[in-house]
Amino acid sequence: MKVLSVTSEVYPFVKTGGLADVTGALPKSLQKFGIRTITLVPGYPALLPMARAGAPLLVFDEILGEDASLRHIQNEDQMLFVLDIPTLFERPGGLYLDEFGRDFADNWKRFAALSLAAARIADGALPGWVPDIVHTHDWQTALTSVYMRAMGNGLPVVATIHNLAFQGQFAAGLFPYLHLPARALSLDCLEYYGDMSFLKGGLMTSDAITTVSPTYAREILTPRFGMGMEGVLASRRDRLKGILNGIDDEVWDPSLDPYLTQTFDAATPEGRRDNRIALCRELGIDLDEGPILSAVSRLTWQKGMDMLADVAEEIVYRGAKLIVCGQGDAATEDLMLRTAARFPGRMAVYIGYDERLAHLIHAGSDAVIQPSRFEPCGLTQLYALRYGSVPIVSRTGGLAETVIDANDAAMGAGVATGFQFHPVTTEGLRHAIRRAIEVFQSPEQWQRLQNQGMTARFSWDRSAGLYANLYRHLLDEAESGNDNMRSRAAG
Ligand code: ADP
Ligand code: GLC
Repeated sequence: MKVLSVTSEVYPFVKTGGLADVTGALPKSLQKFGIRTITLVPGYPALLPMARAGAPLLVFDEILGEDASLRHIQNEDQMLFVLDIPTLFERPGGLYLDEFGRDFADNWKRFAALSLAAARIADGALPGWVPDIVHTHDWQTALTSVYMRAMGNGLPVVATIHNLAFQGQFAAGLFPYLHLPARALSLDCLEYYGDMSFLKGGLMTSDAITTVSPTYAREILTPRFGMGMEGVLASRRDRLKGILNGIDDEVWDPSLDPYLTQTFDAATPEGRRDNRIALCRELGIDLDEGPILSAVSRLTWQKGMDMLADVAEEIVYRGAKLIVCGQGDAATEDLMLRTAARFPGRMAVYIGYDERLAHLIHAGSDAVIQPSRFEPCGLTQLYALRYGSVPIVSRTGGLAETVIDANDAAMGAGVATGFQFHPVTTEGLRHAIRRAIEVFQSPEQWQRLQNQGMTARFSWDRSAGLYANLYRHLLDEAESGNDNMRSRAAG
């Protein structure tokens, strides 16, 4: 089976968050199920030297009025199609933001172009390669199925929601520039409260909608987590499914990790000690026995990082230390830096994105804090578990499913792996941190907790199997002519 995965980021090439980890790792695990994935990504500057090393696979006549070609990158176990449109993707800044941290004004066009290129490939533009299934990720690629249906192409499409907070909402006045038939702006496709939403168009025209944990799949049907999209999702409820993310256990393997000062595993957790020392030295944190709490996170409201800043004083007061590695909103970054300045030696903040430091933090800290207000899945807690850093998390989305709270019953049964709190408030977080620090005082109990986390398994194998089943089911459905869903919108 051949799958075209369409995404705005993919590890290890271009990454701002968990989306890249998933689109990078899932295709590797799908290979075990006989599924060959090619991943289509924009030709960002970081990819161009590799992508332009060979001749283009295809020169499009134009994509939304721009010169465009399709290139490729093949590494050991990943195959990428790279959409080379210099006017849209070859520019300074990040994947979505300019050098000043503002959204590119033409993001609607950049990601519509990516989606249109995907639809053309699905529709046979590239001689010799046509996918059986198309898999889109988040709003940036959601227009793919809208374009496909407009072309009369009925190949099965899976749309995965990684984060419903981002919906690709743009003024309806831009619609004519998308080169879509007028009917695509209808209520059952792109129209969204007088604007248009790329995500809604994708949700209405795909055959299956997945999100990255079963809990989040339930949560997004409620107004609190649905972010305005709950009605749309309810109308497609029979097509919505939660599939928990896994981790790439080769990239995140403490027994082989080249970023660590000392490698270790569940049988040799004492190897963590050298990493702890290296981490403290690097960030100027006191080398005493108090627990090191950490956060590796986008510094945003979603991630509850304002609440973490609020409890920093309590953490320090209780003899613990806090390390934060992240970037995000200017206001939250500033809040973190100001808070750290009050506690030299006890709190350190690294503003920026650093893959190596993220690995070292999980290997050298005692606990990782994730007070997310919502969390579709969350990968950080999964990496931390494997590296022996005990998660302290809010009970929401994927966090609720992947961390087992250290209550008496779970401790007694030997299954606890961390601490959960609810409601998601500063007080709730404060209470959970107190509980964690208390258990830390009892080394025997803490080591048990740590070991249970390190031996829990979150590899992709199981979830990749669920995606493989879903793809097969959609293919069977398409073959038996049941295309009722695909003809619903824009068709
Ligand atoms: P999200 O995608 O919502 O940001 P996830 O937990 O799914 O949350 O994934 C976050 C990913 O980004 C993880 O791989 C994490 O290690 C990484 N990450 C986040 N912030 C940083 C940072 N400042 N430096 C390095 N890696 C980071
Ligand atoms: C999003 C979510 C995060 C999830 C990631 C990968 O960025 O915020 O919870 O783990 O996507 O699916």
